[in-house]
Amino acid sequence: MEREQWSSTLGFILASIGSAVGIGNIWRFPYIVGANGGGAFLIPFLIAVLLFGLPLMVLELAIGRSTGTSVVSAFRSIRQRFAAAGLVIVAVVSLILGYYLVITSWVLAYALFFAFNRPMDFDAFTGSYLPLVFFLLSGLAVYVTVRSGVRGGIERASRYLIPFLLVILTFLVIFSLTEPGAAEGIGFYLSPDFSRLTDPAVWIAAFGQAFFSLSVGMGILLTFGSYLGREALFRNAAIIAVADMLIAVLAGLVIFPLVFTAGLDPAAGVNLAFITLPTAFTEIQYGTVLGALFFLMLFAAALTSAVSMLEVPTAALMDSYGYPRKRATLLVFAAVMVLGLPSALSYTALNLEAFGMPFLDFADYAFGTIGLIVAGLLVSVVGGWFMIRTRICAEIGGCGWQQKVYMALIRYGVPAVLLITLVGSFFRGTG
Ligand code: PHE
Repeated sequence: MEREQWSSTLGFILASIGSAVGIGNIWRFPYIVGANGGGAFLIPFLIAVLLFGLPLMVLELAIGRSTGTSVVSAFRSIRQRFAAAGLVIVAVVSLILGYYLVITSWVLAYALFFAFNRPMDFDAFTGSYLPLVFFLLSGLAVYVTVRSGVRGGIERASRYLIPFLLVILTFLVIFSLTEPGAAEGIGFYLSPDFSRLTDPAVWIAAFGQAFFSLSVGMGILLTFGSYLGREALFRNAAIIAVADMLIAVLAGLVIFPLVFTAGLDPAAGVNLAFITLPTAFTEIQYGTVLGALFFLMLFAAALTSAVSMLEVPTAALMDSYGYPRKRATLLVFAAVMVLGLPSALSYTALNLEAFGMPFLDFADYAFGTIGLIVAGLLVSVVGGWFMIRTRICAEIGGCGWQQKVYMALIRYGVPAVLLITLVGSFFRGTG
């Protein structure tokens, strides 16, 4: 059977923006900026995205397009034994998706609570078994999308959801900036503290956030690249990266003005999105409508990211065993729901824990932080060191000096930065 392709360059770009823009942009990025030097954090973050994230994105796309297949079979075609590395990546993505779906399902629940004007207390919500219902619903939405194929599912979802997200985001930014707490909120969010730039932890946070936010190093762009025609990789990757950063920065302009308008403390972590913000929405004017819009936007972002993650194991099953898409999607969906179950149960009455923390927090650390870095290392080493150089050059428009600089970044820069981030994340623990 012939391999499916994107219907157009725009379709591919929208699907990749859908993958990159997620909970990481709208919820995680703002509080990481607030906690790591405000506006000054944008410097290490920009460096991380442009110098290291972008080359890795291009490499992934190049491997995918050149081999014309998904991560396990692509790695196998580079060297037989690298198939195992491909499997590790598939496992990491599936594990990340498991807990990512749990957060996605909370977002869906909150969107509905606000839409029906029934704001819900986080502890009351997660203390019940209601989250499990939403977990199943979110999983099903992702499953149905991926099952419908590259064009008819993944691309189509992003074609609707990304413009929808942009419209809501623009509206919310304008609204927030006219609120009384706007100046104070933006002050907290962006006023630069350059002294923080000497702290290695700030740089490690920037690198971790950049790789997570770009969805890079997970075989997603590799898989997406295998559905590409002849479009220019570098330019498209740059568009995706810039859109991702822009949406992250704008999200902060929504969140902090609202938090300060409601006179609340800008918390970090789970608290910000699921306790502080919902409280803010119940206190400001038009809050329920704004809350519904905000969580709907977040759900759109999360859904398209989850879809891109599910595509990685699905495509791997299809390419390695020749499974039809529908069967592969069903199997992967079932596996991911099982993998996500401990995380889904960790904030319920069961309080499932690992190493003294809720299982979900553990999963975010073990898979979403450490696992992600290991996967990125595998991609950069297999692609940068073992794929024939001329093959990469052919994908990125020749072997001129720009490509040489780019290859040096891939072979030395990216692995070095990932190693440093890995070591740093080990010492930091989950805190
Ligand atoms: N980039 C997505 C976000 O910002 C999350 C993600 C991480 C998606 C890793 C795929 C892989 O939320």
